[in-house]
Amino acid sequence: MKSNITIQLTEKSKIDTVDFDNLPFGSVYSDHMLECDFINGEWQTPVIKPYAPISLDPAAKIFHYGQSIFEGMKAYKDTEGNTMLFRPLENWKRLNKSAERLVIPQIPEDIFMDGLKKLLEVDNNWIPKNEGSSLYIRPFMFASGIGFHASPADTYKLIICTAPSGAYFAGKVKVLIEEKYARAANGGVGFAKAGGNYAAQFYPTQLAIEKGYNQVIWTDDNSHEYIEEAGAMNVFIRINDTLITSPTSDRILDGITRKSVIQIAKDLKIDVEVRKISVSEVIAAAQSGSLKEMFGAGTAAVISPIAGFGYQGTDYDLPKLETPFANTIKKAITDIQTNKSKDPYGWRVMI
Ligand code: PLP
Ligand code: COI
Repeated sequence: MKSNITIQLTEKSKIDTVDFDNLPFGSVYSDHMLECDFINGEWQTPVIKPYAPISLDPAAKIFHYGQSIFEGMKAYKDTEGNTMLFRPLENWKRLNKSAERLVIPQIPEDIFMDGLKKLLEVDNNWIPKNEGSSLYIRPFMFASGIGFHASPADTYKLIICTAPSGAYFAGKVKVLIEEKYARAANGGVGFAKAGGNYAAQFYPTQLAIEKGYNQVIWTDDNSHEYIEEAGAMNVFIRINDTLITSPTSDRILDGITRKSVIQIAKDLKIDVEVRKISVSEVIAAAQSGSLKEMFGAGTAAVISPIAGFGYQGTDYDLPKLETPFANTIKKAITDIQTNKSKDPYGWRVMI
């Protein structure tokens, strides 16, 4: 069954103010957003309306107890003008996984998918056509219900807004392997896309930025000996011709790009190992010359090669390769996303 959606169109589009040839990441917003309230135990009719600030009670639990989760997805245009999403049901499933952990009500598939498709229809002109740009989609759900009692709220909001976006990283990516702080712990919320996971990263990331790095590579909270993931992406490490990535866990986000990379790499006959990888193994490989590549994988970051990393006060540079795995895999995945190649996996969803 298709969900009903109320549509209120803007009187004046802002699209003429946007320079589509120089798009930043996630800081210019399309004309409309979708809003849907959970009240009296039920999701209400979603409304697509002009993008605008929202009004919340100061006692709303989102402000006090951080009951808030989000997703990140992208819409692409092909040369014919068709609109495509990439594995959108995976985002819907993960949003509900995060929701369960944060005691936020489950969002039904029809509200999420029909609402998103309608929003993309309404703001179709906002989907960039330039290579390397896309419409970044940010669905999020949070506690709008009030009370200082530290318990789940009784009302929630789902909002989906979109931002035509260029690359997430402006230049070379240098990362710092973390030795002291942790992003997540066993039994915690690291696997969820909870807003608080990102807030908790800001301080250690700021310290890393002050030292000249862009992101932190998190290590396990217990020993700080094993590589987990980066601030906004999963991490792949190539030693000789083997591509290694950590298994997902309570502490690591189960990235949709990550699982797509694993599948594509295997089909390209690249040797892939999903296993724990220690910092000492990476340092030993860097010292012996067998460390060939490191890259991050995520919706916003796509495939971002890591130029170098720091650990215990020493900087290590990654070699410059002629045909890195990162390039081959990035091309394979973006060609599927943008309808430049066949999609043997059924990941592309035409709107
Ligand atoms: N890890 C973290 C912490 C992230 O924020 C993201 C981004 O969503 C990812 C990994 C990559 O996940 P995905 O590929 O599903 O975007
Ligand atoms: C994404 O890749 O979509 C994310 O959610 C990462 C975000 C922190 C920019």
